[in-house]
Amino acid sequence: MLAIDDLRGYSANAILRDGTPVCIRAIRPDDKERLVGHFDRLSSDSRYHRFFGFRNAFTPRELSCLTEPDFLRHVALVATIEEGTGSERIVGDGRYVALPDRCYAAELALSVVDVYQRRSIGTLLLEHLIRLARHGGVRRLEADVMGSNRGALRFLIRRGFKSSGTSGGVCSVALSIEDHDGRPGLTVGQPTLDTVRQRAHQLYLAREGKHGKDLEDWLAAECELRVVSAPN
Ligand SMILES: CC(C)(COP(=O)(O)OP(=O)(O)OC[C@H]1O[C@@H](n2cnc3c(N)ncnc32)[C@H](O)[C@@H]1OP(=O)(O)O)[C@@H](O)C(=O)NCCC(=O)NCCS
Repeated sequence: MLAIDDLRGYSANAILRDGTPVCIRAIRPDDKERLVGHFDRLSSDSRYHRFFGFRNAFTPRELSCLTEPDFLRHVALVATIEEGTGSERIVGDGRYVALPDRCYAAELALSVVDVYQRRSIGTLLLEHLIRLARHGGVRRLEADVMGSNRGALRFLIRRGFKSSGTSGGVCSVALSIEDHDGRPGLTVGQPTLDTVRQRAHQLYLAREGKHGKDLEDWLAAECELRVVSAPN
């Protein structure tokens, strides 16, 4: 198991699909200004989805809480890029906080600044958080996501989260960390994309392609359906 001091110094480098170097590291107390900058740069939609409401300012206490987690019950990572001036900019924030009533489960929250979305930063943050959660004995990551937040729901479901209910327009999703094999979107026991494609192709051939649907569309829909409807 990683010691808390190891977690506070946690850092890993990665290269995004477009070649941009990014660092995934533990948040630090001196990140307060950078973190405010990050939340300021989120679009109003992203901020609304992240905080479940309009949020423009943070009290010093809230900022301390966000940037000085205990790395035991509350673990927070940031994704940063180097700016031309050599300074660091936070482009993503990911954290989990242990639920008070169930220490083996934790609530997940992620935000990636809009211009950097869909470039794998969310996936990187999630993968590192899963790794740390596993080390910390957390067995289940949960997230409440607004039903209107199709992007985040798609992101989480594709990475192995399963729906655990909907109430008041909010979808609850959860990932069993024990079952997660560490690769995005695949959990042990779920069919792999290749298996689904193979099966879908066989079905397509059996129907002699007479249903008139484009094969790729059909394969994508089949895959989505199976991932979304996989049993809990
Ligand atoms: C959800 C979020 C963290 C994903 O971060 P990201 O860096 O964009 O994620 P990645 O690039 O690793 O993965 C992108 C995948 O997520 C899904 N996705 C993300 N945004 C999407 C959108 N607007 N529409 C459809 N799919 C979307 C897609 O599957 C996409 O894969 P693709 O680009 O290959 O189609 C980011 O969109 C975000 O910060 N949203 C606002 C805050 C929020 O909603 N937080 C709640 C999450 S707990």
